[in-house]
Amino acid sequence: MDQERLLRELNEFLRIPSVSTLPAHNQDCRAAAEWVGAELRRLGCHDVAFLGSDTHPVVWAKGPDVPGAPTLLIYGHYDVQPPDPLAEWTTPPFEPTQRDGKLYARGSADDKGQVFCLLKAIDSANPPVNFRFLIEGEEEYGSKVLFDLIQREPQRVRADAVVVADMSYVAPGWPAVYTTLRGLCYAEITVRTSKTDLHSGEYGGAAPNAHEELARLLTRLKGADGKINIPGFYSAVKRPSKAELGAWKKLPFKEKDFLNKRVQGKALVGLKKYSVLERLWALPTFEIHGVLGGFTGEGAKTVIPAAATAKVSMRLVPNQKLATVERQLAAAVQRLAPKHVTASVRFLHGADPAQIKVDSLAFKLLDQAFKSVTGRGTVPARAGGSIPVVPALASAGAPVILTGIGLPDDRLHAPNEKLDLKQLWDGIKVFQTFYELLGAQRHM
Ligand code: BES
Ligand code: MN
Ligand code: MN
Repeated sequence: MDQERLLRELNEFLRIPSVSTLPAHNQDCRAAAEWVGAELRRLGCHDVAFLGSDTHPVVWAKGPDVPGAPTLLIYGHYDVQPPDPLAEWTTPPFEPTQRDGKLYARGSADDKGQVFCLLKAIDSANPPVNFRFLIEGEEEYGSKVLFDLIQREPQRVRADAVVVADMSYVAPGWPAVYTTLRGLCYAEITVRTSKTDLHSGEYGGAAPNAHEELARLLTRLKGADGKINIPGFYSAVKRPSKAELGAWKKLPFKEKDFLNKRVQGKALVGLKKYSVLERLWALPTFEIHGVLGGFTGEGAKTVIPAAATAKVSMRLVPNQKLATVERQLAAAVQRLAPKHVTASVRFLHGADPAQIKVDSLAFKLLDQAFKSVTGRGTVPARAGGSIPVVPALASAGAPVILTGIGLPDDRLHAPNEKLDLKQLWDGIKVFQTFYELLGAQRHM
């Protein structure tokens, strides 16, 4: 493997600030799509299409035909999360930098580094597989363009198996395949208490304060015990089986290390009667991401804000449904807001949870590939994060392999995101081996 050349090429990809949720980066998203397209043409794809959007197109491609060989659809995303807070990066997010065998950059692990890995594994091995590629640019913003595409042209995602490398090992040395992904319901909750902002000297003591009302509303929606008080919210939640909970106890996961090394806080929170893994993987959440409104500038201003907005999201687990949860949240907000407040909810994007059976042949081949390269096969685990399109891909019937070559401490979405280079080199070999094993099959 020419590691120097590969790193140069990955750095090119990582230097493109393809932040899908910020319109100022629309041209960068397009540039990242073009980078992927060029790479796919180099792999011998004649048919490379940019679909659904000029700025955040789905890059779809078809590799050279190999009659009789299985069809593998490779999914990934070229968009990344915003890099802020910028001041906390040791080196700038879009200037990839190597330190201690790690590559630091936004997107190094999520997901450009992993897309790179899936593609470069083809480059060197040239395996007898009918490849299809689906690399989207809106995963971090709900995948609307891709959903429309699949509805319009379902044949584009038809395959014998799908591989998604957008997760991590469960621990160093422990590769995994994932049996569930949580869904997501992202919303803005706004409360209004008066027509305009008011002087807190003239009105304070008698006029309602939007921030105070919003704070109270939010703490009613989720209590200090971690319980979410949205009527009906938990009723569809399916508990993991005894066998699955038992298997999690054997994973190399220590609640204490999770607190001290990963969270680096003072205590864990949430529903105390469930294990931390169950809280992370099998229970729904309610998080407040940010609160807007009132005065947050420098200095001091004595104002009673008339309106306040919270950006919130809920992670959903099997068998919750996004559409049901949206109705439940909207109803709970109306019920819990006092009469003197106008409350409204706006839904930004979301995803259903995904459930995947990991017993078909494709999983055995990946297990074999990991075992031969890293010395250990894959363990089944669950993932706390979301990939909106996965339920749609799975519903077409082919096995969807959810895996990854990152590590749990890669700091996705956070400052100083990184990818360990050993994981990258191993990962390329793993997928090379996987493609070869797959190519040797005639019946899938
Ligand atoms: N790669 C992540 C999903 C992920 C992270 C799965 C960690 C398992 C473990 C993906 O890029 C992501 O961040 N998805 C968003 C989706 C959302 C914006 C619709 C997420 O989970 O917040
Ligand atoms: Mn991702
Ligand atoms: Mn992400």
